[in-house]
Amino acid sequence: MTHSSTSTRWWRDAVIYQVYVRSFADGDADGVGDLKGVRDHLGYLADLGVDAIWLTPFYTSPMADFGYDVADYRDVDPLFGTLADAKALIDEAHGMGIRVIVDVVPNHTSSAHAWFQEALRGVNRDRYIFRDEPNDWESIFGGSAWTQVEDGQWYLHLFDSSQPDLNWDNPEVRAEFESILRFWLDLGVDGFRVDVAHGMIKPEGLPDIGHADQVRLIGNDVVPYFDNDAVHEIHRSWRKLLDSYPGERIGVAEAWAPTPARLARYVREDELHQAFNFHFLNARWDAGALREVITESLATADSVGAPSTWVLSNHDVKRHVTRFGSSERARAAALLMLALPGSAYVYNGEELGLPEVLDLPAEVCLDPQRLRDPDSGRDGCRVPMPWTSSDGYGWRRPWLPVPGDWGGLSVEAQDGDPGSMLSLYKQALRLRRTVSGELRWHDSPAGTLVFSRDDGFVCTVNLTGDPVDYPVDGRAVLSSAPVEEGRLAPDSTTWWRAKVA
Ligand code: NOJ
Repeated sequence: MTHSSTSTRWWRDAVIYQVYVRSFADGDADGVGDLKGVRDHLGYLADLGVDAIWLTPFYTSPMADFGYDVADYRDVDPLFGTLADAKALIDEAHGMGIRVIVDVVPNHTSSAHAWFQEALRGVNRDRYIFRDEPNDWESIFGGSAWTQVEDGQWYLHLFDSSQPDLNWDNPEVRAEFESILRFWLDLGVDGFRVDVAHGMIKPEGLPDIGHADQVRLIGNDVVPYFDNDAVHEIHRSWRKLLDSYPGERIGVAEAWAPTPARLARYVREDELHQAFNFHFLNARWDAGALREVITESLATADSVGAPSTWVLSNHDVKRHVTRFGSSERARAAALLMLALPGSAYVYNGEELGLPEVLDLPAEVCLDPQRLRDPDSGRDGCRVPMPWTSSDGYGWRRPWLPVPGDWGGLSVEAQDGDPGSMLSLYKQALRLRRTVSGELRWHDSPAGTLVFSRDDGFVCTVNLTGDPVDYPVDGRAVLSSAPVEEGRLAPDSTTWWRAKVA
Protein backbone atom coordinates (compact mmCIF):
# COMPACT_ATOMS: atom_id res chain seq x y z
CA MET A 1 0.00 0.00 0.00
CA THR A 2 1.31 3.49 -0.74
CA HIS A 3 -0.07 6.73 0.59
CA SER A 4 1.20 9.03 -2.12
CA SER A 5 -2.34 10.02 -3.13
CA THR A 6 -2.55 12.21 -0.01
CA SER A 7 0.93 13.57 -0.49
CA THR A 8 1.81 17.15 0.41
CA ARG A 9 5.45 16.64 -0.55
CA TRP A 10 6.27 18.68 2.55
CA TRP A 11 9.94 17.69 2.37
CA ARG A 12 10.54 19.21 -1.05
CA ASP A 13 11.05 22.71 0.31
CA ALA A 14 11.25 22.09 4.06
CA VAL A 15 13.72 23.78 6.37
CA ILE A 16 15.08 21.04 8.58
CA TYR A 17 16.98 21.98 11.73
CA GLN A 18 19.75 19.66 12.82
CA VAL A 19 19.75 19.19 16.58
CA TYR A 20 23.10 17.87 17.76
CA VAL A 21 21.44 16.52 20.88
CA ARG A 22 24.56 16.50 23.03
CA SER A 23 25.15 20.21 22.51
CA PHE A 24 21.70 21.70 22.02
CA ALA A 25 20.15 22.06 25.47
CA ASP A 26 20.55 20.36 28.82
CA GLY A 27 17.29 19.35 30.55
CA ASP A 28 18.85 17.68 33.59
CA ALA A 29 21.86 19.94 34.22
CA ASP A 30 24.47 17.18 33.91
CA GLY A 31 26.44 19.09 31.31
CA VAL A 32 25.28 17.03 28.32
CA GLY A 33 22.34 18.05 26.14
CA ASP A 34 19.41 15.61 26.12
CA LEU A 35 15.91 14.93 24.80
CA LYS A 36 14.29 16.86 27.64
CA GLY A 37 16.43 19.84 26.66
CA VAL A 38 15.08 19.59 23.11
CA ARG A 39 11.50 19.40 24.43
CA ASP A 40 12.08 22.47 26.57
CA HIS A 41 13.16 24.41 23.48
CA LEU A 42 10.54 23.35 20.96
CA GLY A 43 8.99 26.79 21.37
CA TYR A 44 12.27 28.33 20.23
CA LEU A 45 12.31 26.11 17.15
CA ALA A 46 8.67 26.85 16.32
CA ASP A 47 9.39 30.56 16.67
CA LEU A 48 12.44 30.21 14.43
CA GLY A 49 10.07 28.76 11.86
CA VAL A 50 11.54 25.36 11.03
CA ASP A 51 9.42 22.62 9.47
CA ALA A 52 11.24 19.67 10.97
CA ILE A 53 14.10 18.70 13.22
CA TRP A 54 16.71 16.00 12.67
CA LEU A 55 17.99 14.55 15.92
CA THR A 56 21.52 13.10 15.87
CA PRO A 57 21.82 9.61 17.46
CA PHE A 58 20.53 9.39 21.01
CA TYR A 59 20.57 5.57 21.22
CA THR A 60 22.39 3.41 23.75
CA SER A 61 26.07 3.84 22.97
CA PRO A 62 29.54 3.88 24.51
CA MET A 63 29.85 7.28 22.72
CA ALA A 64 33.24 6.52 21.18
CA ASP A 65 31.97 8.37 18.09
CA PHE A 66 29.40 10.42 20.00
CA GLY A 67 26.50 8.07 19.38
CA TYR A 68 27.38 6.98 15.83
CA ASP A 69 28.49 3.79 17.57
CA VAL A 70 25.14 2.25 18.47
CA ALA A 71 24.90 -0.59 20.98
CA ASP A 72 21.08 -0.82 21.02
CA TYR A 73 19.08 0.67 18.16
CA ARG A 74 15.78 0.46 20.01
CA ASP A 75 16.59 2.30 23.21
CA VAL A 76 17.72 5.73 24.41
CA ASP A 77 21.07 6.18 26.13
CA PRO A 78 20.53 7.23 29.78
CA LEU A 79 22.73 10.26 29.05
CA PHE A 80 20.00 11.54 26.72
CA GLY A 81 16.88 10.31 28.56
CA THR A 82 14.44 7.45 28.08
CA LEU A 83 12.26 6.00 25.38
CA ALA A 84 9.34 7.78 27.06
CA ASP A 85 11.22 11.09 26.58
CA ALA A 86 11.66 10.27 22.89
CA LYS A 87 7.95 9.55 22.51
CA ALA A 88 7.00 12.72 24.40
CA LEU A 89 9.36 14.77 22.23
CA ILE A 90 7.90 13.36 19.01
CA ASP A 91 4.33 13.99 20.19
CA GLU A 92 5.00 17.50 21.46
CA ALA A 93 6.87 18.47 18.31
CA HIS A 94 3.96 17.20 16.21
CA GLY A 95 1.59 19.24 18.38
CA MET A 96 3.59 22.32 17.37
CA GLY A 97 3.63 21.41 13.69
CA ILE A 98 7.27 20.28 13.69
CA ARG A 99 8.19 16.95 12.12
CA VAL A 100 10.89 14.75 13.64
CA ILE A 101 13.62 12.88 11.76
CA VAL A 102 15.97 10.53 13.56
CA ASP A 103 19.35 9.13 12.59
CA VAL A 104 19.83 5.51 11.60
CA VAL A 105 23.35 4.08 11.51
CA PRO A 106 23.31 0.98 9.28
CA ASN A 107 26.92 0.77 8.06
CA HIS A 108 28.33 -0.28 11.41
CA THR A 109 27.35 -0.99 14.99
CA SER A 110 29.25 -0.33 18.16
CA SER A 111 31.61 -3.07 19.27
CA ALA A 112 29.45 -3.09 22.42
CA HIS A 113 26.44 -4.27 20.36
CA ALA A 114 25.25 -7.76 21.38
CA TRP A 115 25.91 -9.02 17.84
CA PHE A 116 29.55 -7.99 17.88
CA GLN A 117 30.05 -9.39 21.34
CA GLU A 118 28.76 -12.70 19.97
CA ALA A 119 31.02 -12.38 16.95
CA LEU A 120 34.04 -11.95 19.21
CA ARG A 121 33.10 -15.27 20.80
CA GLY A 122 33.09 -16.76 17.30
CA VAL A 123 29.28 -16.87 17.00
CA ASN A 124 27.53 -15.56 13.84
CA ARG A 125 30.58 -13.71 12.59
CA ASP A 126 29.04 -13.34 9.17
CA ARG A 127 26.92 -10.43 10.42
CA TYR A 128 30.20 -8.48 10.19
CA ILE A 129 33.15 -8.53 7.82
CA PHE A 130 35.78 -10.85 9.23
CA ARG A 131 38.75 -12.06 7.14
CA ASP A 132 41.91 -14.06 7.75
CA GLU A 133 44.04 -11.30 6.16
CA PRO A 134 43.42 -7.53 6.06
CA ASN A 135 43.59 -5.60 2.78
CA ASP A 136 45.08 -2.09 2.44
CA TRP A 137 41.93 -0.06 3.25
CA GLU A 138 42.34 2.82 5.67
CA SER A 139 39.95 3.93 8.35
CA ILE A 140 38.44 7.35 7.70
CA PHE A 141 39.57 8.24 11.20
CA GLY A 142 43.16 7.23 10.43
CA GLY A 143 45.21 4.02 10.50
CA SER A 144 44.23 0.65 9.07
CA ALA A 145 40.54 -0.19 8.63
CA TRP A 146 41.21 -3.63 10.13
CA THR A 147 41.65 -4.80 13.70
CA GLN A 148 42.74 -8.27 14.69
CA VAL A 149 40.81 -10.28 17.28
CA GLU A 150 42.18 -12.84 19.70
CA ASP A 151 41.86 -15.89 17.45
CA GLY A 152 43.80 -14.16 14.67
CA GLN A 153 40.99 -13.02 12.33
CA TRP A 154 40.57 -9.39 11.37
CA TYR A 155 37.36 -7.31 11.18
CA LEU A 156 36.69 -4.32 8.97
CA HIS A 157 35.86 -0.90 10.41
CA LEU A 158 35.79 2.02 8.00
CA PHE A 159 35.57 4.32 11.01
CA ASP A 160 36.80 3.76 14.57
CA SER A 161 37.93 0.28 15.65
CA SER A 162 34.88 0.30 17.96
CA GLN A 163 32.60 0.67 14.89
CA PRO A 164 32.70 -2.73 13.10
CA ASP A 165 31.13 -2.68 9.61
CA LEU A 166 28.06 -4.84 9.15
CA ASN A 167 27.81 -7.42 6.37
CA TRP A 168 24.83 -6.33 4.25
CA ASP A 169 25.07 -9.50 2.17
CA ASN A 170 23.65 -11.29 5.18
CA PRO A 171 19.82 -11.28 5.02
CA GLU A 172 19.64 -11.19 8.80
CA VAL A 173 21.26 -7.72 8.76
CA ARG A 174 18.68 -6.48 6.25
CA ALA A 175 15.79 -7.90 8.26
CA GLU A 176 17.11 -6.41 11.48
CA PHE A 177 17.28 -2.92 10.02
CA GLU A 178 13.78 -3.15 8.55
CA SER A 179 12.61 -4.05 12.04
CA ILE A 180 14.54 -1.10 13.54
CA LEU A 181 13.00 1.30 11.02
CA ARG A 182 9.54 -0.03 11.86
CA PHE A 183 10.20 0.39 15.56
CA TRP A 184 10.81 4.14 15.17
CA LEU A 185 8.13 4.64 12.52
CA ASP A 186 5.64 3.01 14.88
CA LEU A 187 6.76 5.44 17.57
CA GLY A 188 5.83 8.26 15.19
CA VAL A 189 9.01 9.57 13.58
CA ASP A 190 8.68 11.29 10.20
CA GLY A 191 11.80 9.84 8.70
CA PHE A 192 15.44 8.91 8.91
CA ARG A 193 18.75 10.50 8.16
CA VAL A 194 20.71 7.54 6.87
CA ASP A 195 24.32 7.57 8.06
CA VAL A 196 26.94 6.50 5.49
CA ALA A 197 24.14 5.64 3.02
CA HIS A 198 26.77 5.07 0.33
CA GLY A 199 28.85 2.59 2.32
CA MET A 200 26.84 -0.47 3.24
CA ILE A 201 27.81 -2.58 0.23
CA LYS A 202 31.45 -3.60 -0.12
CA PRO A 203 32.72 -4.92 -3.46
CA GLU A 204 33.28 -8.60 -4.08
CA GLY A 205 36.75 -9.69 -2.97
CA LEU A 206 37.49 -6.42 -1.13
CA PRO A 207 40.12 -5.23 -3.66
CA ASP A 208 43.15 -3.29 -2.48
CA ILE A 209 43.34 0.43 -3.29
CA GLY A 210 47.08 0.51 -3.79
CA HIS A 211 47.87 3.87 -2.22
CA ALA A 212 47.64 5.64 1.11
CA ASP A 213 45.59 8.72 2.11
CA GLN A 214 42.43 7.20 0.64
CA VAL A 215 39.43 9.18 1.83
CA ARG A 216 38.47 11.86 4.28
CA LEU A 217 35.16 12.53 5.96
CA ILE A 218 32.69 13.95 3.43
CA GLY A 219 35.21 13.45 0.64
CA ASN A 220 34.43 13.04 -3.05
CA ASP A 221 37.04 10.37 -3.69
CA VAL A 222 36.32 7.24 -5.71
CA VAL A 223 37.10 4.26 -3.45
CA PRO A 224 35.92 0.66 -3.79
CA TYR A 225 33.96 0.64 -0.53
CA PHE A 226 31.77 3.64 -1.34
CA ASP A 227 28.93 4.32 -3.75
CA ASN A 228 28.58 0.77 -5.05
CA ASP A 229 25.56 0.33 -7.28
CA ALA A 230 24.14 -2.47 -5.16
CA VAL A 231 23.59 -0.05 -2.27
CA HIS A 232 20.59 1.35 -4.15
CA GLU A 233 18.72 -1.90 -3.77
CA ILE A 234 18.69 -1.32 0.00
CA HIS A 235 17.37 2.22 -0.42
CA ARG A 236 14.64 0.96 -2.73
CA SER A 237 13.48 -1.52 -0.16
CA TRP A 238 13.54 1.15 2.54
CA ARG A 239 11.50 3.47 0.35
CA LYS A 240 8.82 0.80 0.05
CA LEU A 241 8.80 0.46 3.80
CA LEU A 242 8.54 4.24 4.31
CA ASP A 243 5.72 4.45 1.78
CA SER A 244 3.78 1.76 3.61
CA TYR A 245 3.30 4.21 6.49
CA PRO A 246 0.89 7.14 6.33
CA GLY A 247 2.09 10.75 6.45
CA GLU A 248 4.98 10.84 3.98
CA ARG A 249 7.85 9.57 6.08
CA ILE A 250 11.18 10.38 4.45
CA GLY A 251 14.70 9.05 4.05
CA VAL A 252 17.67 11.42 3.81
CA ALA A 253 20.94 10.09 2.47
CA GLU A 254 24.23 11.07 4.00
CA ALA A 255 26.10 9.97 0.91
CA TRP A 256 29.52 11.16 -0.22
CA ALA A 257 29.32 10.78 -3.93
CA PRO A 258 32.04 11.80 -6.40
CA THR A 259 29.70 14.02 -8.45
CA PRO A 260 26.23 15.58 -8.15
CA ALA A 261 25.10 13.11 -10.84
CA ARG A 262 26.15 10.12 -8.71
CA LEU A 263 24.47 11.77 -5.71
CA ALA A 264 21.20 12.12 -7.62
CA ARG A 265 20.98 8.34 -7.88
CA TYR A 266 20.18 8.20 -4.15
CA VAL A 267 17.07 10.30 -4.69
CA ARG A 268 15.58 8.57 -7.70
CA GLU A 269 11.83 8.27 -7.47
CA ASP A 270 11.86 4.87 -5.82
CA GLU A 271 14.77 5.58 -3.46
CA LEU A 272 15.34 8.11 -0.68
CA HIS A 273 13.75 11.55 -0.67
CA GLN A 274 16.73 13.76 -0.04
CA ALA A 275 20.54 13.65 -0.09
CA PHE A 276 22.71 16.26 1.58
CA ASN A 277 24.42 18.36 -1.02
CA PHE A 278 28.03 18.27 0.16
CA HIS A 279 29.22 19.66 -3.18
CA PHE A 280 27.49 22.91 -2.19
CA LEU A 281 28.86 22.69 1.35
CA ASN A 282 32.39 22.24 0.03
CA ALA A 283 32.20 25.17 -2.42
CA ARG A 284 34.37 28.23 -1.86
CA TRP A 285 33.01 31.75 -1.32
CA ASP A 286 33.33 32.46 -4.99
CA ALA A 287 30.66 33.45 -7.50
CA GLY A 288 31.80 31.12 -10.27
CA ALA A 289 32.23 28.09 -8.01
CA LEU A 290 28.85 28.59 -6.37
CA ARG A 291 26.99 29.21 -9.60
CA GLU A 292 28.44 26.07 -11.08
CA VAL A 293 27.60 23.85 -8.14
CA ILE A 294 24.08 25.28 -7.82
CA THR A 295 23.37 24.85 -11.53
CA GLU A 296 24.72 21.32 -11.64
CA SER A 297 22.96 20.30 -8.42
CA LEU A 298 19.60 21.60 -9.60
CA ALA A 299 19.94 19.95 -12.99
CA THR A 300 21.03 16.56 -11.67
CA ALA A 301 18.39 16.45 -8.93
CA ASP A 302 15.78 17.57 -11.43
CA SER A 303 16.78 14.84 -13.85
CA VAL A 304 15.45 12.30 -11.32
CA GLY A 305 12.51 14.45 -10.18
CA ALA A 306 14.03 15.22 -6.78
CA PRO A 307 14.56 18.52 -4.95
CA SER A 308 18.05 19.69 -4.06
CA THR A 309 18.93 19.64 -0.39
CA TRP A 310 21.23 22.49 0.61
CA VAL A 311 23.50 22.46 3.61
CA LEU A 312 26.22 24.81 4.82
CA SER A 313 27.26 23.27 8.14
CA ASN A 314 26.84 20.16 10.24
CA HIS A 315 28.51 18.36 13.15
CA ASP A 316 31.32 17.01 10.92
CA VAL A 317 32.68 20.17 9.31
CA LYS A 318 34.15 23.52 10.30
CA ARG A 319 31.33 25.96 10.88
CA HIS A 320 30.83 28.20 7.85
CA VAL A 321 31.39 31.49 9.67
CA THR A 322 34.97 30.27 10.05
CA ARG A 323 35.20 28.56 6.65
CA PHE A 324 34.04 31.64 4.81
CA GLY A 325 36.02 33.92 7.08
CA SER A 326 33.42 36.34 8.48
CA SER A 327 29.93 36.61 9.87
CA GLU A 328 29.06 39.03 7.02
CA ARG A 329 29.72 36.23 4.55
CA ALA A 330 27.85 33.75 6.73
CA ARG A 331 24.81 36.07 6.71
CA ALA A 332 25.04 36.38 2.95
CA ALA A 333 25.53 32.62 2.52
CA ALA A 334 22.45 31.89 4.63
CA LEU A 335 20.25 34.16 2.51
CA LEU A 336 21.70 32.63 -0.65
CA MET A 337 20.98 29.08 0.54
CA LEU A 338 17.50 29.92 1.78
CA ALA A 339 16.57 31.55 -1.55
CA LEU A 340 17.35 28.42 -3.56
CA PRO A 341 14.62 26.01 -4.68
CA GLY A 342 14.61 22.83 -2.59
CA SER A 343 15.03 21.93 1.02
CA ALA A 344 17.58 23.47 3.40
CA TYR A 345 19.28 22.17 6.52
CA VAL A 346 20.24 24.49 9.38
CA TYR A 347 22.76 23.16 11.90
CA ASN A 348 22.07 24.22 15.47
CA GLY A 349 23.93 27.39 16.29
CA GLU A 350 24.35 28.58 12.70
CA GLU A 351 21.28 30.76 13.27
CA LEU A 352 23.34 32.44 16.01
CA GLY A 353 26.37 32.85 13.77
CA LEU A 354 28.53 30.63 15.97
CA PRO A 355 32.09 30.30 14.70
CA GLU A 356 34.22 27.16 14.93
CA VAL A 357 36.01 27.05 18.29
CA LEU A 358 39.63 26.64 17.28
CA ASP A 359 41.35 26.84 20.64
CA LEU A 360 39.73 24.09 22.70
CA PRO A 361 42.23 22.68 25.18
CA ALA A 362 43.57 19.35 23.87
CA GLU A 363 42.47 17.47 26.98
CA VAL A 364 38.76 18.15 26.33
CA CYS A 365 38.83 17.09 22.67
CA LEU A 366 37.46 13.57 22.38
CA ASP A 367 36.59 13.18 18.69
CA PRO A 368 38.15 9.98 17.32
CA GLN A 369 38.91 11.79 14.07
CA ARG A 370 41.58 13.88 15.81
CA LEU A 371 43.70 10.69 15.73
CA ARG A 372 44.07 11.24 12.00
CA ASP A 373 45.58 14.62 12.61
CA PRO A 374 44.86 16.99 15.48
CA ASP A 375 43.52 19.70 13.14
CA SER A 376 40.80 17.45 11.76
CA GLY A 377 38.97 17.15 15.09
CA ARG A 378 35.25 17.94 15.01
CA ASP A 379 34.90 19.11 18.59
CA GLY A 380 35.09 22.78 17.59
CA CYS A 381 31.76 22.68 15.72
CA ARG A 382 30.05 20.80 18.56
CA VAL A 383 30.46 23.35 21.35
CA PRO A 384 27.19 23.76 23.31
CA MET A 385 24.62 26.41 22.27
CA PRO A 386 24.73 29.60 24.33
CA TRP A 387 21.16 30.24 25.50
CA THR A 388 21.70 33.00 28.06
CA SER A 389 24.25 35.83 27.99
CA SER A 390 25.69 35.01 31.39
CA ASP A 391 25.44 32.35 34.12
CA GLY A 392 27.18 29.67 32.08
CA TYR A 393 25.04 30.33 28.99
CA GLY A 394 22.24 28.13 30.37
CA TRP A 395 24.55 25.17 31.04
CA ARG A 396 25.76 24.10 34.47
CA ARG A 397 28.88 22.21 33.40
CA PRO A 398 28.88 22.07 29.60
CA TRP A 399 30.70 18.99 28.27
CA LEU A 400 32.88 21.27 26.14
CA PRO A 401 33.80 24.73 27.42
CA VAL A 402 31.85 27.57 25.79
CA PRO A 403 34.15 30.50 24.89
CA GLY A 404 34.10 33.36 27.36
CA ASP A 405 33.13 35.90 24.70
CA TRP A 406 29.97 34.17 23.40
CA GLY A 407 27.59 36.26 25.56
CA GLY A 408 26.74 38.49 22.62
CA LEU A 409 26.05 35.45 20.43
CA SER A 410 23.55 33.93 22.86
CA VAL A 411 19.89 33.47 22.08
CA GLU A 412 19.07 35.89 24.90
CA ALA A 413 21.30 38.60 23.41
CA GLN A 414 20.08 38.15 19.82
CA ASP A 415 16.40 37.59 20.43
CA GLY A 416 14.53 40.78 19.62
CA ASP A 417 17.56 42.51 18.12
CA PRO A 418 16.46 43.19 14.54
CA GLY A 419 20.07 43.29 13.31
CA SER A 420 21.06 39.92 14.75
CA MET A 421 21.81 36.70 12.85
CA LEU A 422 18.91 35.07 14.70
CA SER A 423 16.48 37.73 13.44
CA LEU A 424 17.84 37.31 9.92
CA TYR A 425 17.15 33.55 9.99
CA LYS A 426 13.66 34.09 11.44
CA GLN A 427 12.72 36.62 8.80
CA ALA A 428 14.25 34.49 6.05
CA LEU A 429 12.37 31.38 7.13
CA ARG A 430 9.08 33.29 7.17
CA LEU A 431 9.61 35.07 3.84
CA ARG A 432 10.86 31.91 2.18
CA ARG A 433 7.36 30.49 2.46
CA THR A 434 6.21 33.10 -0.04
CA VAL A 435 8.88 32.16 -2.60
CA SER A 436 8.31 29.49 -5.21
CA GLY A 437 9.23 28.48 -8.71
CA GLU A 438 12.35 27.53 -10.59
CA LEU A 439 15.64 29.40 -10.43
CA ARG A 440 16.58 31.58 -13.41
CA TRP A 441 20.05 33.09 -13.59
CA HIS A 442 20.51 36.67 -14.81
CA ASP A 443 23.65 38.27 -16.17
CA SER A 444 25.44 40.24 -13.50
CA PRO A 445 28.85 41.85 -12.89
CA ALA A 446 31.90 39.69 -12.12
CA GLY A 447 31.91 38.39 -8.56
CA THR A 448 28.14 38.61 -8.18
CA LEU A 449 25.21 36.25 -8.64
CA VAL A 450 21.67 37.29 -9.56
CA PHE A 451 18.74 34.93 -9.92
CA SER A 452 15.01 35.20 -9.88
CA ARG A 453 12.12 32.91 -9.06
CA ASP A 454 8.38 33.37 -9.50
CA ASP A 455 6.35 36.50 -8.72
CA GLY A 456 9.23 38.92 -9.05
CA PHE A 457 11.40 37.38 -6.33
CA VAL A 458 15.01 38.32 -7.03
CA CYS A 459 18.13 37.39 -5.08
CA THR A 460 21.36 39.34 -5.56
CA VAL A 461 24.65 38.17 -4.05
CA ASN A 462 27.90 40.11 -4.00
CA LEU A 463 30.74 37.74 -3.20
CA THR A 464 33.44 40.37 -3.45
CA GLY A 465 34.83 42.54 -0.69
CA ASP A 466 33.86 45.73 -2.56
CA PRO A 467 30.56 47.39 -3.39
CA VAL A 468 29.41 46.57 -6.93
CA ASP A 469 27.22 48.85 -9.05
CA TYR A 470 24.01 47.02 -9.85
CA PRO A 471 20.76 48.96 -9.81
CA VAL A 472 17.68 46.84 -9.06
CA ASP A 473 14.28 48.09 -10.14
CA GLY A 474 12.36 46.98 -7.08
CA ARG A 475 12.01 46.86 -3.32
CA ALA A 476 14.47 45.10 -0.98
CA VAL A 477 12.54 42.80 1.32
CA LEU A 478 15.43 41.28 3.28
CA SER A 479 19.14 41.87 3.25
CA SER A 480 22.20 40.55 5.02
CA ALA A 481 23.73 44.06 5.00
CA PRO A 482 22.40 47.64 4.80
CA VAL A 483 20.92 48.22 1.35
CA GLU A 484 22.49 50.96 -0.74
CA GLU A 485 20.85 52.66 -3.71
CA GLY A 486 22.26 51.43 -7.01
CA ARG A 487 24.87 49.07 -5.63
CA LEU A 488 25.33 45.78 -3.86
CA ALA A 489 27.15 45.98 -0.51
CA PRO A 490 30.37 43.90 -0.12
CA ASP A 491 29.82 40.24 0.88
CA SER A 492 26.04 40.60 0.94
CA THR A 493 22.84 38.96 -0.23
CA THR A 494 19.59 40.84 -0.75
CA TRP A 495 16.11 39.53 -1.50
CA TRP A 496 13.97 41.79 -3.65
CA ARG A 497 10.55 42.02 -5.17
CA ALA A 498 11.66 43.44 -8.45
CA LYS A 499 11.81 43.42 -12.21
CA VAL A 500 14.97 42.07 -13.76
CA ALA A 501 15.95 42.21 -17.37
C1 NOJ B 1 28.79 10.42 9.51
C2 NOJ B 1 28.44 11.10 10.79
O1 NOJ B 1 27.84 12.34 10.49
C3 NOJ B 1 29.73 11.23 11.56
O2 NOJ B 1 29.57 12.08 12.68
C4 NOJ B 1 30.18 9.85 11.96
O3 NOJ B 1 31.43 9.94 12.58
C5 NOJ B 1 30.30 8.95 10.74
N1 NOJ B 1 29.22 9.08 9.82
C6 NOJ B 1 30.39 7.51 11.15
O4 NOJ B 1 29.14 7.05 11.62
